[in-house]
Amino acid sequence: MNWKNKTIFIGDNLHIMRGMNSESVDLIYLDPPFNSNRNYSAPIGSRAAGAAFKDTWTLNDIDIAEHGELAEQAPSLHTIIQAAREAHGKGMQSYLIMMSTRLLEMERILKDTGSIYLHCDPTASHYLKLVMDSIFGKGNFRNEIAWHYSGWNARLSKSFSSRHDVILFYGKSNKQQFNSYAVDWESEEEYIRVRRQKVHVDDTGRKYVLSDGGGGTRVRRYLEEAMAYGKPVDDVWDIPKLNNSSKEHLGYPTQKPLALLERIIKAGSSRGDVVFDPFCGCATTLVEADRLQRSWVGIDISPKAAELIVTRIRDDQGGLLQQITARDDYPQRTDMNDIPPARTHKHTLYGLQEGICGGCEIHFPFRNLTIDHKIPRSKGGTDHFENLWLLCGACNSAKGTGTVAELRVKLGQN
Ligand SMILES: C[S@@+](CC[C@H](N)C(=O)[O-])C[C@H]1O[C@@H](n2cnc3c(N)ncnc32)[C@H](O)[C@@H]1O
Ligand SMILES: [Zn+2]
Repeated sequence: MNWKNKTIFIGDNLHIMRGMNSESVDLIYLDPPFNSNRNYSAPIGSRAAGAAFKDTWTLNDIDIAEHGELAEQAPSLHTIIQAAREAHGKGMQSYLIMMSTRLLEMERILKDTGSIYLHCDPTASHYLKLVMDSIFGKGNFRNEIAWHYSGWNARLSKSFSSRHDVILFYGKSNKQQFNSYAVDWESEEEYIRVRRQKVHVDDTGRKYVLSDGGGGTRVRRYLEEAMAYGKPVDDVWDIPKLNNSSKEHLGYPTQKPLALLERIIKAGSSRGDVVFDPFCGCATTLVEADRLQRSWVGIDISPKAAELIVTRIRDDQGGLLQQITARDDYPQRTDMNDIPPARTHKHTLYGLQEGICGGCEIHFPFRNLTIDHKIPRSKGGTDHFENLWLLCGACNSAKGTGTVAELRVKLGQN
């Protein structure tokens, strides 16, 4: 991996992930904004006050370039997204463009033995499942987990109360690791009800059940021994949602319970493995990963989230603050020396510029434009996306090693 353990990146995860090495993480959990047409903000006075993020999508918000790029690189995704637009409208289309470009990067970053858990809600889960099948492969679909939480069910006039989120779980390949997971039985009654076994009592008063001993025989198993194996977890998870009185509640909008992440991290990783959350919010995933002695890395676009994360982990872990790295630059891939990183940007730039040369403003075919640094490297310019644009051959040689401003002068545009 080309970042330090316990790093939190502040910025758009698309650009940051593009700088992360391939096959470098073991487990990805993501809880992106849901396309639920809400804007979230934290209550004033809570520890998370100031954190807000948008959960509505309009086509204007999205780089047109991303869509163009998908059409060329992942035609099936492009088709799926068009279909979602037919069924649900432009908001869903732009949401899925945003998600698809990022999920493609996650697939690249995930190890062959890794797993991904995508947290969503019933508004978008069926569209996201098409996207996931297309990116990860239908054979790597593992579960659609229903996270069910109880609460006051209002009597609605047209529907039942909605009480679950959906978590789509995929492996990267058939080499994917999985630790099957059991929880304690709540009571003897629960065990008996679920297993549908008849309980007997021996002479000493101990309870036992009869289980299959093979070849038509029945063997006696004492209840406490039978129960010790625990109850294997299935795909419906009853875990309370956080509310204002929960101890771990920070007031961060959409904060998830640690207990939910505990299950995912235990099932999908082992001690020392790398856990990655590209939409980490107030760092629930990272805190739980730290508690379970996993390595971790997270990204959030909100600087408020980054601030919270550092204090939250410090509060949770005592003096570990100095080990946390918070950074707002992009990592540089160290696993692709032979391919210039700029190449991957050419499609995006072509879409953004709509095929028009940044200098003379004339339209050119894709092959006739080349990537140039707006501010040359020799003048402190970087290889980052914001510093790149496309120029035609003539403008490129006119610009030479000068800057954008110098080219404008040469072209008589000032
Ligand atoms: C639903 S919240 C995640 C909550 C988190 N699971 C928790 O327990 O706190 C989604 C988060 O994604 C962040 N976000 C939205 N777009 C992003 C992007 N392009 N890159 C990185 N983070 C983004 C938002 O700032 C928000 O914190
Ligand atoms: Zn030109």
